[in-house]
Amino acid sequence: MFITLEGIEGCGKTTQTHLLANWLRENKFSVVLTYEPGDTDLGNSIRSLILDSHIDLSPNTELFLYLADRIEHVRKVIKPALKGGKIVLCDRYHDATIVYQGYGRGISTEFIKSCFDFLDFPLPDLTLLLDCPVEIGLSRIKGRRWNRLEKEGIDFHRRVRKGYLNLAKEEEKRIKIIDATRPIHLIQEDIRKIVKELLI
Ligand SMILES: Nc1ncnc2c1ncn2[C@@H]1O[C@H](COP(=O)(O)OP(=O)(O)OP(=O)(O)O)[C@@H](O)[C@H]1O
Ligand SMILES: [Mg+2]
Repeated sequence: MFITLEGIEGCGKTTQTHLLANWLRENKFSVVLTYEPGDTDLGNSIRSLILDSHIDLSPNTELFLYLADRIEHVRKVIKPALKGGKIVLCDRYHDATIVYQGYGRGISTEFIKSCFDFLDFPLPDLTLLLDCPVEIGLSRIKGRRWNRLEKEGIDFHRRVRKGYLNLAKEEEKRIKIIDATRPIHLIQEDIRKIVKELLI
């Protein structure tokens, strides 16, 4: 089973992914916890290029760096884990490319989707979209050093949020919207309910 967690900066993806992994492991499931960009040797180098706000990148360069990262990630981490019968939990995946490089940077979302088809990226069985207003997400990461994408203006982040909500409308069966403005444990409760249904 392949589960992805998505949402704007600071919505709580990493927090919730770890809590979900702990719960699944307590229940004797074999879990591979991973993230994008960067969870391979090559991906780690690509991640520093993508997120370093001092390096000037065109939107297309940014897109193709994300795709290169995903090719390696799918090949080296995701596909082997799925083949081995593991539950794969991935903190950001292909929806993020559609909303950040598509809705955010203005690259055709149709073109991005055609790249996914060509590259044969596996589709998640479930995507948990942690939704909250941009102001709330960004206020939660205030204390951190911000990367290239986090440093974008508020309108960029609003387009990203709207993009995620549009995707959820287009793919109601796969993408579940979760109200991420609430306390961490209540969000996790909802996530576990949804995942439990899928596991039965
Ligand atoms: N529901 C919540 N309510 C309040 N604070 C939260 C909540 N969820 C997470 N946080 C806090 O907000 C910060 C960001 O959370 P987290 O790193 O999980 O978000 P993220 O979506 O992974 O962010 P990024 O997009 O930067 O990777 C952390 O300090 C975390 O403890
Ligand atoms: Mg995170």
